[in-house]
Amino acid sequence: MDMNVAKMARDADHQVVVEFEDRIAWVRINRPEKRNAISPALAAKMSETLDALETDDRCAVVVITGTGAAFHAGMDLKEFFRATDSMPADARRRLSEINSDWQWRRLLYFAKPTIAMVNGYCFGGGLNPVCACDIAIAAEEATFGVSEVNWGIVPAGNVLKLLSWVLSPRDGMWVAMSGEPFDGKKAAEIRLVNEAVPLAKLRERVREIALSFVGKNPYAVRATKHAFHRVRDMNFEDSEDYLFAKLAESRFQDPEKGRDKGMSQFLDEKSYRPGLGAYKREPK
Ligand code: COA
Repeated sequence: MDMNVAKMARDADHQVVVEFEDRIAWVRINRPEKRNAISPALAAKMSETLDALETDDRCAVVVITGTGAAFHAGMDLKEFFRATDSMPADARRRLSEINSDWQWRRLLYFAKPTIAMVNGYCFGGGLNPVCACDIAIAAEEATFGVSEVNWGIVPAGNVLKLLSWVLSPRDGMWVAMSGEPFDGKKAAEIRLVNEAVPLAKLRERVREIALSFVGKNPYAVRATKHAFHRVRDMNFEDSEDYLFAKLAESRFQDPEKGRDKGMSQFLDEKSYRPGLGAYKREPK
């Protein structure tokens, strides 16, 4: 198998659909006949897609979702596992990295806000983007499951790490060890997702959240997201120092000088209240 990401992605050109609407990029995994299971080509295509969106001005927020009955039914057991079993270990490792790249590594530190919109089946590796996106909203009717134990493997591809990062040990151990399916309501109850809403309202609710990000200072949102992840692994002293440095840095780095605008619109113009909403930005 050719491990060149661009060449691999070409085989999955139609399996990822991107639609732009009011600076929201709706990224749809489009392989419904296989319940949006991820093949190596599809992993490469998702990676390529996220790469492009990071610098595309039409996109201020990314929403990841799936076509049809599934969000993402995990790794393709045939194409990702059986077909690669006889490959050298290094090549299999490379494939796994290409997949990790889009499923969590890139998403965790993506330059723009990301939302997982879980419309249906979400199993195994499908849990990775749910955990790695900044926000996750599910349909109440969606079906989740850490199903790896059901077919006799350990949840690898960093699924267990991402889960242990988002869920409590009680809930994480239960879902991973039992492999039991659960619905969107349960996913919200254990805080795997922020909210669950009826499927008929899912897109509308996600659109509302996405638009709220479009209206906010992108530098401040990005810096906050990155800092949130960084400080989780720091002690209190290092964290305070890091955040202080980031705060100082932002005064020089923010291209729209949000801090000055935010203060002036509140203190001088009295045109908004920061506790209740964001300052007014120039439209893009
Ligand atoms: N890997 C490979 N193929 C998959 C797949 C996966 N993860 N998920 C679905 N498919 C394929 C099926 O093999 C079938 O292919 P075929 O039409 O060529 O036979 C097709 O997608 C439709 O799947 P099917 O099982 O008939 O659909 P369903 O609607 O009855 O059930 C699921 C949907 C998602 C419940 C079921 O397909 C399933 O359990 N998939 C595996 C989920 C999983 O455990 N993923 C974790 C992998 S780590």
